[in-house]
Amino acid sequence: MEQTFIMIKPDGVQRGLVGEIISRFEKKGFTLKGLKLLTVEQSFAEKHYEDLATKPFFSGLVEYIISGPVVAMIWEGKGVVATGRKIIGATNPAASEPGTIRGDLAIHVGRNVIHGSDSVESATKEIGLWFPEGPTNWQSSLHQWIYDLWLLCFVY
Ligand code: GTP
Ligand code: MG
Repeated sequence: MEQTFIMIKPDGVQRGLVGEIISRFEKKGFTLKGLKLLTVEQSFAEKHYEDLATKPFFSGLVEYIISGPVVAMIWEGKGVVATGRKIIGATNPAASEPGTIRGDLAIHVGRNVIHGSDSVESATKEIGLWFPEGPTNWQSSLHQWIYDLWLLCFVY
């Protein structure tokens, strides 16, 4: 099933928002397939955000991401990339709807607490970068209460 890469940024960890953020993905019904707390080096952060290398905020963004530990996660579920972005909210918290993570928990675009892959292709690339060991292999026993498995077998 589809997977996405979600990262709680250093401000989210420092502000004690890890449990709150994980809870929102869990309650939705998505499955946690990878989780680690780590501090990354400058070259790693530059690689993660390489598509933004020409942006004026790039060096500040890299400084922000390496400023403390982050929580790196793989989440799995039907449509998790697009739905994950909806749960997170717009890039700028000032434009994020209430009810989204950034809409509820952040104020400034440069401290927006969480990253989520923006496409299935980005998710594959980012999971490969952050989890070279791959996801943890387990199946949630709640699937039958979250998905209509009879319908799902025609979709996948
Ligand atoms: P990510 O999930 O972190 O990739 O955010 P996004 O996909 O919603 O936005 P994008 O990839 O365009 O930007 C990556 C990150 O750069 C954002 O989440 C912000 O932390 C930061 N960023 C984007 N635009 C600005 C900006 O105008 N100013 C500052 N200071 N930071 C920005
Ligand atoms: Mg992005």
